Amino acid sequence: MAKGKNKTAFFCKDCGFESVKWLGQCPSCHEWNTFVEEPVVKSSVGKERLGIRKKEPSKLSEVSITEEERTLTGIGEFDRVLGGGIVTGSLVLVGGDPGIGKSTLLLQMCRKLAAIGKNVLYVSGEESIKQIKMRADRLGKFEKELLLLSETDLDIVVEIVTERKPDVVIIDSIQTMYREEVGSAPGSVSQVRETTSTLMRLAKELAISVFVVGHVTKEGVVAGPRVLEHMVDTVLYFEGDGSASYRFLRGVKNRFGSTNEIGVFEMRGNGLTEVANPSEYMLQGKPENEPGSVVACSMEGTRPILVEVQALVCQTNFNMPRRTAAGTDYNRVNLLMAVIEKRLGIRLGDCDAYINVAGGMRINEPALDLGIIAALLSSYRNLALDSRTICFGEVGLVGEVRAVNMAEQRVLEAAKLGFRRCILPQVNKKQLEISTEMLNGMQLIGIQTIHEILGVL
Ligand code: TYD
Ligand code: MG
Repeated sequence: MAKGKNKTAFFCKDCGFESVKWLGQCPSCHEWNTFVEEPVVKSSVGKERLGIRKKEPSKLSEVSITEEERTLTGIGEFDRVLGGGIVTGSLVLVGGDPGIGKSTLLLQMCRKLAAIGKNVLYVSGEESIKQIKMRADRLGKFEKELLLLSETDLDIVVEIVTERKPDVVIIDSIQTMYREEVGSAPGSVSQVRETTSTLMRLAKELAISVFVVGHVTKEGVVAGPRVLEHMVDTVLYFEGDGSASYRFLRGVKNRFGSTNEIGVFEMRGNGLTEVANPSEYMLQGKPENEPGSVVACSMEGTRPILVEVQALVCQTNFNMPRRTAAGTDYNRVNLLMAVIEKRLGIRLGDCDAYINVAGGMRINEPALDLGIIAALLSSYRNLALDSRTICFGEVGLVGEVRAVNMAEQRVLEAAKLGFRRCILPQVNKKQLEISTEMLNGMQLIGIQTIHEILGVL
C-alpha cells in the first residue's frame, strides 16, 4: 500500500488485539482465525460536539470525594450485580448471546426508572420504534413516558443526548452504531471502539449513565463485546441455557462494586421475573434417589446456590471413550476421573462419562469437585445417593478432600432447604460455628479422602 494512503491494520475481533500483519492465532486470546483488516482511526473527532473545554489539572488536596451517586433500578437482582444501583455517569456494558434477553432486561429497567421520574432515552439500532413498542406492551403498562429513538448514526445520537440531557441512555446494540469518520462497517473493531469511547466521554462529561448492549458473536466480522471490556466501567454478562428459562446476570468487571455477584431471572411471557431463591429453583425437577444425581453447593459471590450434578458412566463402544462436561470445566472432570482411577483403583478408562450441571448454570468452582466425584461413583456403581444429601469440597490430586471457603453459608443454605446430611471436608467441619438448632436436624459428615465417599453411597 502506498504511503500516506489510509492506513489499515489487522484486529482480532474477539479481543481487539492489533497487529500489522495477519495472524492465524491471536497471541492475546489464543483464538484462531479471528483477524480482520480494518482502517486505523485517529480518534480526534467529536470533541466540539460534546462541548469539552480545555481542562486545568486539579490539586489532590482540593479534590473532594463524595460517595458516588447511585440510583436504584428497583429490580433487586440487577441492582445487586451493579453493586447497589446505577452509578451516575457510568458506562455499563451488557453482553450476551443474541436472543438471551438483553433488550428485555434493559427495557424493564427503563420502565422502572421512568416510573421514579427519570428521563430515559432508549436508542435502538436493531429494531424499529414499533417493535420496541410491541415488546414494551408485553412487559406491562408504562406509567411514565420513555423516549425512543431508532438510529444507528452515533453522531445524531450524541446530538440528541446533548440537547435533551436524559438521566439514562440505552444503546442497543453497540455493534449497530457507526461514526462516519471511522470509515469501516458498523460492528468492526474500529467502529465499536470509537463509538464506545465517544459514549464514554458523553457519560463522563454530561454525568449520564449509559448502558451499552453487546452481542457475543461466534463468527462473522462483527466484533465481540470483549473488545470493549477494558474501556467501560462495568461489564455484565447475561447468560443461560437457551432452551431453559433461567437467566443469570453476572458481573465480570465493576469499577464501583464487587464482581462476583450474580442475578437470577426467569424469562416468562411477560418479561423477566426475579428469582429470589435460586437454590430451590435450580433443584426443581430433580429426580429422587436416582444413581448419578448428586446435589452440590457453589458460591456465587456471597450467595450459596445448590445445584444438581448429574453423571452418566457406561461402558464405551469406541476405542476412545467419550467424555463431555456441560456446565463445568471439561479438563477438571478428566482430572477428577484420573484421581478416582488411581486412588480408588476403579477402572474408568474404558467408560464413557458425561457430566452435566442441571439448570444451565456454569460453575467452575473447585468446591464442586466432591459433587462431581460422588456423581461419577454413584453412576458407575449404580447406587443412588440419598436425595436429601448434599456434598461439597475440593479434591486434590492424591484424593484428599480439601477445605473450601465460606463453608458456613453453604451448610446453612442446605439446612434451610431441609437436607438431612451434608458431606463436607473434615477441616471445614471442625471449624464450623453453627448451633444445632440452625442445622435443623441435618447431620454433618466430615471426610478427609475420597475413599470415604464410597462408604456413604
Ligand atoms: P431479547 O431481549 O430480544 O434478546 P436480546 O436483546 O438479548 O437479543 O429477548 C428475546 C427473547 O425473549 C425472545 O426469544 C422472546 C423472549 N421473550 C419472552 O419470552 N418473554 C417476553 O416477555 C419478551 C419480551 C421476550
Ligand atoms: Mg436485542
